[in-house]
Amino acid sequence: MTFQIHIDDSDQTFACNPGETVLDAALRQGIELPYSCRKGVCGNCRGLVLQGDLVPGTAGGSHEAGIQAPNEHLFCHAQAASDLLIRPRSWQRLDPNARKTVQAKVFRITQAASDVTVLQLRLAAGVRVKFKAGQYLQVLLADGQRRAFSMANAPHESDSVQLHIRQVPNGHFSAGILPTLKAGDMLSLELPHGDFWLREDNDRPLVLVAGGTGFAPMQSIVNHIVRQKLQRDITLYWGSRQAEGLYAAEQIAKWQKALPALRYVPVLSDEPADTGWSGRRGLVHEAVLADQADLSGSAVYACGAPPMVAALRQACATRGLPEAHFHSDAFVSSQGQ
Ligand SMILES: Cc1cc2nc3c(=O)[nH]c(=O)nc-3n(C[C@H](O)[C@H](O)[C@H](O)COP(=O)(O)OP(=O)(O)OC[C@H]3O[C@@H](n4cnc5c(N)ncnc54)[C@H](O)[C@@H]3O)c2cc1C
Ligand code: FES
Repeated sequence: MTFQIHIDDSDQTFACNPGETVLDAALRQGIELPYSCRKGVCGNCRGLVLQGDLVPGTAGGSHEAGIQAPNEHLFCHAQAASDLLIRPRSWQRLDPNARKTVQAKVFRITQAASDVTVLQLRLAAGVRVKFKAGQYLQVLLADGQRRAFSMANAPHESDSVQLHIRQVPNGHFSAGILPTLKAGDMLSLELPHGDFWLREDNDRPLVLVAGGTGFAPMQSIVNHIVRQKLQRDITLYWGSRQAEGLYAAEQIAKWQKALPALRYVPVLSDEPADTGWSGRRGLVHEAVLADQADLSGSAVYACGAPPMVAALRQACATRGLPEAHFHSDAFVSSQGQ
């Protein structure tokens, strides 16, 4: 049986089919709710169910995903068992022309660290893509699978795409296909995706927290700020296991010239004691916790491994960060997306 889902405080109602999640039903009917992983990990899709029932087993979610109230649920899992009245964290009508599938040509492949490849792609002459700083794309593979990667280029560089790809052991794309790519090869991309993008409707000090290749969307955000001459106070934390994972020294040096107020805090969790590293050690969320006594006036943007994002979300809450100003993409495996 099909149920009707109504968004609180709006005139929006959409239908939800049996077996369909609330998120899938909304997206299918052109309503964008926040989401990222679609696997119950990142918590981006959480929202309240004010009236109605969910199919048993599809309700709730973990504390790590930010679920706190009994009527709070993950819409990427929740399925309707009756008509529902929901209050998502935000919603908007999807512009049917906003998301595009484009063909991109491999332009340059650079090994930035032993397990990180920077892939630069060019779109066909005259083709431009529109996205917001921080969003991600999906690589559409020949066998129908998709893989999510954040754009590292800023939105004004709309005729090309830069990706920072960590090689996942046995990864179908990163370890199987990527090493075989050469200049001139074509990839199919769908973009833009995601709710992780720089909010420009406020001037809160920015705390950007990257784990590994979570640096990619931060690069897009900071280059956008430089380009648009936005006045934002920025602290960038970049966590890596070892120093070689901090693969963008040149880019950071450029920012330090363009944005003298930018504070850069590299944090290593697994650097051997004898390498001469004199910077911070430990987990990146611990460094944020140690430095930031009061986040009530800030906005935090976090990208990287799911445990890092979950730990940071909880750490920031203890420092007074309002929930609405924590933005994240958890880099979960794309399998099944
Ligand atoms: C919104 C979003 C943005 C992302 N952006 C980036 C990005 O900019 N750069 C980047 O390097 N990655 C990014 N990722 C993660 C990336 O999409 C996955 O790591 C992807 O699965 C890699 O594809 P693959 O084919 O190489 O590996 P797969 O074939 O998908 O995975 C192979 C095996 O490794 C495991 N695995 C895959 N990825 C991970 C992971 N991240 N952590 C732990 N185990 C894993 C799988 O479960 C599987 O067992 C992003 C993910 C999301 C959801
Ligand atoms: S938990 Fe639902 S989209 Fe990530």
